[in-house]
Amino acid sequence: MLELKDVCFTIQKNGEALNLVDHASLSIPKGHFMAIVGPSGCGKTTLLKTIAGLNPESDGSLWWNGRNLSEDGDLEAWEIGYVPQFSIAYDQLTVDESIEAATRLRIKTNNSAELDARIDRVLKETGLTSIADRPVSVLSGGQMRRLGLAMELVSDPKLLLCDEVTSGLDPRSEREIVNLLHDLSRKEGRIVLSVTHSLAHLELYDSILVLHEGRVAYHGSPEQLTHYFSVDHTELVYPQLAKQASEKWRSSWIKHSATYYAKLQHNREKLHAQGLLELPADELHQPESEEAHETKEAKTRSPSILSQFHTLLGRRMRIFFRDRGQVFLQLAILICFPLLVVLFSPRANENMRKFTDASGATLQQKLEEQAGVQEDRLKVGSAVSGIIMFQVVLLSLMGSNNAAREIAGERQILEKEKFGGLSPLAYLASKIAFLSGLILIQSLWMAGFVELFWSFEGSFEKHALFLILVNAAMTAICLGISSLMRTAEKASLLSVYLVGFQLPLSGAVLALPEKIEPLTRPFISAYWAWSGSVDSLSGQYRSALTAISETQISTSNLCFFILLIHITLGLIISWIGTSRPQWEH
Ligand SMILES: Nc1ncnc2c1ncn2[C@@H]1O[C@H](COP(=O)(O)OP(=O)(O)OP(=O)(O)O)[C@@H](O)[C@H]1O
Ligand SMILES: [Mg+2]
Repeated sequence: MLELKDVCFTIQKNGEALNLVDHASLSIPKGHFMAIVGPSGCGKTTLLKTIAGLNPESDGSLWWNGRNLSEDGDLEAWEIGYVPQFSIAYDQLTVDESIEAATRLRIKTNNSAELDARIDRVLKETGLTSIADRPVSVLSGGQMRRLGLAMELVSDPKLLLCDEVTSGLDPRSEREIVNLLHDLSRKEGRIVLSVTHSLAHLELYDSILVLHEGRVAYHGSPEQLTHYFSVDHTELVYPQLAKQASEKWRSSWIKHSATYYAKLQHNREKLHAQGLLELPADELHQPESEEAHETKEAKTRSPSILSQFHTLLGRRMRIFFRDRGQVFLQLAILICFPLLVVLFSPRANENMRKFTDASGATLQQKLEEQAGVQEDRLKVGSAVSGIIMFQVVLLSLMGSNNAAREIAGERQILEKEKFGGLSPLAYLASKIAFLSGLILIQSLWMAGFVELFWSFEGSFEKHALFLILVNAAMTAICLGISSLMRTAEKASLLSVYLVGFQLPLSGAVLALPEKIEPLTRPFISAYWAWSGSVDSLSGQYRSALTAISETQISTSNLCFFILLIHITLGLIISWIGTSRPQWEH
C-alpha cells in the first residue's frame, strides 16, 4: 500500500514559497492501476517525482507498506520503476541488448541461464519477443514505450511510475500500452501509476487522480468521474475544473472523499471475487512484515560495482564500434593528425652547420660562420619546437574530442540509471577505462609515426609519456566539463575553446608578456607537455632549442607532476559532476 499524507513539494519563487504539490493525500492499495490526469503544468510530473523520491517532499510523509519513507529511508532501487517521457535506450543497441544491459545494471543474477530467463520473460510480458533483434533506432513510438517499460520491469518493481508513456501514439498503440500497464498491475500486487494527458481509455484504470494546480481535485473510480464533476463527458472535466479555484476543488474533495473511497474498495472486492486480482483480499491491507521485506531484498540484490563497470564498459565499446560515424572520425583523426605533423619534419632533419676550428680564418670569415650557425639553429630549433608543439596541440584536440560529449550526451540516461541503482563510481570508472584506450592508441601512434620521419634525439620514451599525459589531461578536463554541462553542444563548445587557448597561452610560439605568463602558465597543459618533451631532447636539437627559445623550459619532473595534477583535477570535477543529480525539469 502506498500512502501520501499531506505531501507538499515546495519551491521558492521570487522569494515566496510556492507549493507545486500542495497537501496531497492519497492511499493506493496493492495491485492498483491509477491514472494521474490534469491540465498541462498542474504538477503531474512533479507529483510522480515526489513519489519516486526524486523531489524530496517538503512537508507531509510518504508511506510504503506501513514504512515511513522519509524516516526509514527510500524504497530500494529495484523496488521502484520509473519510466520517464524521454527515451532511455541507445540507438546503436538492439532491443535485446538494451534489456540485457538494464538487467545486468540493476539485478544480480547467479548465472547466464537466470539472466536469459529474466530477459525472455520481460520481452514476452511487453510483447517485444518478435522484435528482440531489432536496433532501437528503427523502433516505432509504441515499441519504444514498450522498451522503456521492459527496461524497468527487469527488476520486478513493486511500484511502477510512468510519465506520459502514451503521448504521441496513435489511438490503437495507446490502447495497447494502457492495456499492458493494466495487465502489469494485476501481477504480484504491483502498483502502477501512469501520468497521462489523454482522457481516453479511463475505464481501464482502477482509479483516476485529477490534479489542479498541484492540489487533488478528485481521486475515485473512473465511472464516477463525470458524476463528481457534474459533466456529461470526461472531455468536459478540464473546462469544469477551470471554473473554480483549486483551493475550492480541494476542500470539496476532502468533504466527499470517504464516499468515493468506499466505492473504490467495493470495486476492488468485486475484482477479487471475480478472480481478477491475484492477491487475497485480507493481505491487501496488511502492512508487509519486515521479515518478508528482507527476504525479497535478499532475493533481488543490486549487482556489485565491478559487475556494473564491466557491463558499462562492454556497452560503451559496442556502441562505439556500431557508430560508424564515430569510428570513421576517430580513424581519420588518428591518421591525418600525425601526417600533418610529418609535413614539418624535413626542416627539423636538416643538418646544422657547426663552428669550425679554423684558427687561420679572417674576422669576416668568422663572422659569416657565426651567422650561418645561428641561422641553422634558428631554422632547426624552431622546426623542432614546432613539431613538438604541433603534436601536443593536436593531441589536446583529440582529448577534447574524446571526452566533451561523453557524459553530457547521455546525461538523462545516466540520471535514470543512477536512480535504478547504478553506482556513479562504476560509471566514471568505465569512462576512464574506455577513454584510456583511446588516449594510449592516439598518443603512442602520434609519437611513433612521427618518429619514423624524424628521429627524436633524446629520450623518446619521455617524449611519448608527455604526449600521453597531455592527451590524458585534456581528456580528463573535458570529461569534467562534460559532467557539469547540461547539453553536449555546450560541453563541446567549451572544450574547443579550452584547446583553442592552449597554443597562444603556452608561450611556445610567441613569448607572453612577463606579467601574464606566471598567471596563465600553471593551467596550460600544452606548455607543460611541450616543455617536458623539450627537456627530454638531447644533442644538437637541445642546444638549438635552448639557444632560440625565449620561453623558459621547465624540468621534465616538474612538468610531469603538473600534468598529473591536471589529470587529477579533471577526474575530481568529473566525479563531482557525475555524482550530483542533474535531471531536466
Ligand atoms: N524544480 C522546479 N523548479 C521550478 N519550477 C518547477 C520545477 N519543477 C516543476 N516546476 C514547475 O511546476 C509546474 C508543474 O510542472 P509539472 O512538470 O509537474 O507539470 P505537468 O502537470 O507534468 O505538466 P505537463 O502535462 O505539461 O507535463 C510547472 O509550471 C513547472 O514549470
Ligand atoms: Mg509532465
